[in-house]
Amino acid sequence: MKATTRSLRALKGRRPLVCLTAYDAVTARLADAAGVDLILVGDSLGNVVLGHPSTVPVTLDDMLRATAAVARAKPQALVVADIPFALAHDTFPTLLRACRRLLQESGAEAVKVEGGATLAPAVARLVDAGIPVMGHVGLLPQRVHAAGYRRRGVTEADREAVLADARALAEAGAFAIVAECVEPALARRLSREVPVPVVGIGSGKACDGQILVFHDLLGLTENPPSFARREARLGDLAVAAIRRWAGKVRKEAAR
Ligand code: KIV
Repeated sequence: MKATTRSLRALKGRRPLVCLTAYDAVTARLADAAGVDLILVGDSLGNVVLGHPSTVPVTLDDMLRATAAVARAKPQALVVADIPFALAHDTFPTLLRACRRLLQESGAEAVKVEGGATLAPAVARLVDAGIPVMGHVGLLPQRVHAAGYRRRGVTEADREAVLADARALAEAGAFAIVAECVEPALARRLSREVPVPVVGIGSGKACDGQILVFHDLLGLTENPPSFARREARLGDLAVAAIRRWAGKVRKEAAR
């Protein structure tokens, strides 16, 4: 059955949401065949697929193209597209136009924005315009140049700040919230106190769901984060297969 923001929101407290990134029709088809609930066309596209050092260089055009490819796979999972670097902090008409393009031209069914309470007014306006929004609190990879890749919720003040961010986004109408690299005790509190599903990454098991990067899960990245569960080593299998084929080509040519 086709997942919707409403069906996923209703899963809170009933069963965990399983979410995975995808960046093209192939990865989307594989994730969907495995029955994930939500496919995120993450701006991790930048470092995972495009070879950038971070998500910062990812553009709206990159996101439009990748989201369209994912949507062409016609997944049963909900397709969510990331809003790239700093766009959510631009003027509201610019943000609205970008969201409109992601939904109308690329086939996204929701967008995800990185940021906390300061984004809540914009999130409320997007939701009011009929654009479902997923929040993203905790470690914010788009802020790498401002704050680094810093685990969140280590001090009491920071725990309160992350909680306030998540509460504000839920109040603004976000249908779910990603909590990245927050202390497990804080993730547990977020899941208990925030009324929408809190989807963790590197935040322990006590969340309403989990999200991972496709290539980290399947062993296709060279330096996956330590929290990323690797369920296969497809990179090693690919190199071995290519080597086998190359050996056969060389051998056959030498005859
Ligand atoms: O871009 C991304 O892949 C993400 C997930 C890691 C949550 O934001």
